[in-house]
Amino acid sequence: MIKQSDIYSLIGPGLLRTLIDDFHARLSLDPRVEPYFPDDTKRLKAHTFDLLSGAFGGPDEYAGRDLTAVHAEVRHRVTGTPITLTVGYLVGNHLVSAVMEAGASMEICNLVTLLWITMLPVVVPRVEVQAPPAS
Ligand code: HEM
Repeated sequence: MIKQSDIYSLIGPGLLRTLIDDFHARLSLDPRVEPYFPDDTKRLKAHTFDLLSGAFGGPDEYAGRDLTAVHAEVRHRVTGTPITLTVGYLVGNHLVSAVMEAGASMEICNLVTLLWITMLPVVVPRVEVQAPPAS
């Protein structure tokens, strides 16, 4: 049985980069998620590479910002909506689709699914329960 930390040695940096390009291409083609992302995703792709490399057992060189803080500020460019659970699901699904498209085994696809699901509490801001208005 393979582990999440075995993935980097199985796929290597070249395929990881291709996967991330495909992942972002999918995001940019999906009107439900595209409006959350900046036009220029070069820096975002580089940070995503470093994060996934470390998570998959490769070099751990992530030097991006704190993920909770970054995602708490992300808004839909038209509606101003913060990241919802549904949007988090759609984004995670695009990541797994890119992994599947690259010909990864079901075992690897399942490990990547588990990875993004465990990251949802980090990237989806909490829904605040507000006190009722004073009467
Ligand atoms: C599911 C797991 C996710 C992971 C692992 C992830 C990972 C990352 C990483 C590594 C960065 C770079 C941080 C930096 O710039 O320093 C980032 C930024 C960003 N993420 Fe995510 N992300 C996830 C989900 C999402 C979702 C669901 C959305 C929105 C629909 C989103 C939108 C963004 C945007 C717009 C930025 C750039 C923010 C900025 O530069 O101001 N991410 N993410």
